[in-house]
Amino acid sequence: MKILRTLIWLTLTIVALVTKAQVKKTTAGNSKMNQFINSLMSKMTLGEKIGQLNLLNPGGGVATGAVVSSDVESKIKAGSVGGLFGVIGVEKIRQAQELAVNNSRLKIPMIFGSDIIHGYKTTFPIPLGLSCSWDMLMIERGARLAASEATADGLCWAFSPMVDIARDPRWGRVAEGSGEDTYLGSQISKAMVKGYQGNGFSEKNTLMACVKHFALYGAAEAGRDYNTVDMSRIKMYEYYLPPYKAAVDAGVGSVMASFNEIDGVPATANRWLLTDLLRKQWGFKGFVVTDYTGNNEMIEHGVGDLQTVSALALNAGTDMDMVGEGFYSTLKKSLKEGKTIQKQIDGACRRILEAKYKLGLFDDPYRYCDATRAKNEVLSADKRQAAREFGEHSCVLLKNNNQTLPLKKSGTVALIGPLANDKSNMLGTWAVSGDASLSVPVLDGIKNFAGNAVKVLYAKGANVTDDTAMVKKVNVFGERATIDSLSPEQLLRQATETANRADVVVAVVGEASEMTGEAASRSDISLPESQRNLLRVLAQTGKPLVVVLMSGRPLVLNMENQIATSILQVWFQGHEAGNAIADVLFGNYNPSGKLTMSFPQNVGQIPIYYNYKNTGRPQAEGQTAQKFRSNYLDVSNDPLFPFGYGLSYTQFAYSNLQLDKKTMRSTDKLQVKVHLANTGKYDGEETVQLYIRDIYASVVQPVKKLKAFQKVFLKTGQAKDVTFTLSVEDLKFYNSDLKWIYEPGDFKVMVGGNSRDVQEAGFVLSK
Ligand code: NOJ
Repeated sequence: MKILRTLIWLTLTIVALVTKAQVKKTTAGNSKMNQFINSLMSKMTLGEKIGQLNLLNPGGGVATGAVVSSDVESKIKAGSVGGLFGVIGVEKIRQAQELAVNNSRLKIPMIFGSDIIHGYKTTFPIPLGLSCSWDMLMIERGARLAASEATADGLCWAFSPMVDIARDPRWGRVAEGSGEDTYLGSQISKAMVKGYQGNGFSEKNTLMACVKHFALYGAAEAGRDYNTVDMSRIKMYEYYLPPYKAAVDAGVGSVMASFNEIDGVPATANRWLLTDLLRKQWGFKGFVVTDYTGNNEMIEHGVGDLQTVSALALNAGTDMDMVGEGFYSTLKKSLKEGKTIQKQIDGACRRILEAKYKLGLFDDPYRYCDATRAKNEVLSADKRQAAREFGEHSCVLLKNNNQTLPLKKSGTVALIGPLANDKSNMLGTWAVSGDASLSVPVLDGIKNFAGNAVKVLYAKGANVTDDTAMVKKVNVFGERATIDSLSPEQLLRQATETANRADVVVAVVGEASEMTGEAASRSDISLPESQRNLLRVLAQTGKPLVVVLMSGRPLVLNMENQIATSILQVWFQGHEAGNAIADVLFGNYNPSGKLTMSFPQNVGQIPIYYNYKNTGRPQAEGQTAQKFRSNYLDVSNDPLFPFGYGLSYTQFAYSNLQLDKKTMRSTDKLQVKVHLANTGKYDGEETVQLYIRDIYASVVQPVKKLKAFQKVFLKTGQAKDVTFTLSVEDLKFYNSDLKWIYEPGDFKVMVGGNSRDVQEAGFVLSK
């Protein structure tokens, strides 16, 4: 006992000493930084200070607005540019940095950013795909690998993670986020910031993250990009804000304001959002950047002219102006006219200089411009290998009748579809630095895997779409869709002939990558008709039909679900898609992905999400359209595939859900135990999900809230008790005063392999 006490005392003392030392180090570091910045700012003119707030895009990369910057070189030399983005490659970045460091009066280095959304030059699965792995360590590793590669190539700032909660798959940008759930989204947000930033920026292979789009951008009305957002504070606090807050808590260095308005005031000029909430309540210490011309766009919103909106944005808490140069062109005048104050300009300038200081740019402006590192890190074999692994883990098996998958490594496979041998779409949206010529399409992946053991026949079968207007739209960043010289009928005929010669048909279909992402909303989220026709004729051959689905959003798949034998949702996986998909198709990897967004039965059900509320007139389960109940006459309320859903080649059986107490005090921990058995023929990994419901509360609570999950690997025939520990923190919600509280009463715990199929148990929370 005595030894134990001494040991505890010793541990506590060591922890206290280490913490004290760390605090001392940080304080010393901060005061050194403050001294440096004070001294630098004392030498800066007003113009140079405003110059730091100016973020330009010299063009040549991907522009995501109508404007690119002009006279960039002379502005850099004049000390009027704080940073650049859209410049790719270590040599180009070094040259640009030289302009600032060798020519501007105070030699202040620039910060170099980029949209590093899912990998950098090595392209990983789109974020929505990777989120389906529910694997935080893997997601963190993905961000770190992207940071290693990007920092080797000159960059030190990533416009990521995008953590906008989204319940509307019409919105094209769901591809960039992690789906509909607040808890999972917050875990992913944290993991990504940790991956990008490491422990501060002491290592050269970490960079500054920029959480976006702050805030609520995912709730654009009707799923139309850039559209109005309007929501209650309770809904914001409970469902939409936590993932941004998680990034702030993880120490994210910068925040990007969103395009939309919040309570009628655009985020970019929303003082409540950027100052009261972000800085005062959440304690954010980094800098805020607008989105692309987000400041100028407030003119169109109807807020004011450029001078007015620029002053409003600065005064609200925006520090850096992306591309629009409203700060650059109007702040001097606004200061003279009293529309802003010096303190506001100084504060913004200081926060940007602090970021540069933390990134080590004042010590070495070329810290991230190491050509040797670039040679070793960019597109290195370990990153390609990781891309393949991430791809495998992103796949979600939606249907698998007659155990058609995994495929046998023998016989003849007909590989058919417009995305089966396509190298550019598989990279997905926002692969701004991804070189499509390096992609492994599914056709090559299958050949690589199966070698001579399987005869592979190939036919294109259909155009991605026959709609020429749509083809034009999706080809904005290069060719994603073409209209074949063969007619649709001829393509279908070839497909049928090819299918007839095979034992099994694998149809690789889906969206063109640019049918998703920014400015890519769709009001009809079915597969394009050309590909639906292809699937119909393939099904008519009577051969087993495996549908491999590439998309950046949940699609409406009723017809496909009826006629396909198996459906494997693969999203857009990046460079290694072909190899990863082949691994899964042939059982080299047993799929374990789980959906992070609900798949609707039709567009009319949208917004659709698992954590809906019961209402006063709920539709009884298993019944259709009861009169005077909350339902539709023409479709049930259920999604086609629910949140959390995903099959495996093996089967997992859940039983014996147990709680260690019937009544829990607020100081207690509640143990939840469930028995999980692998009853199938393959080893496999299951994501065990735990949901809770607060049955009566002063603010109506949803029917389920995800509160925990665990990934469990079981060999065939193995079983295990899976245990979760809940505390009162997991039972809290935001009340009408926006206080994070718990209320005693009845609760339900639900555990299962998806949000629909769960075991239930009840308990009471006492005072
Ligand atoms: C606009 C997008 O909304 C944002 O996500 C992106 O980071 C910027 N453009 C810069 O490319």
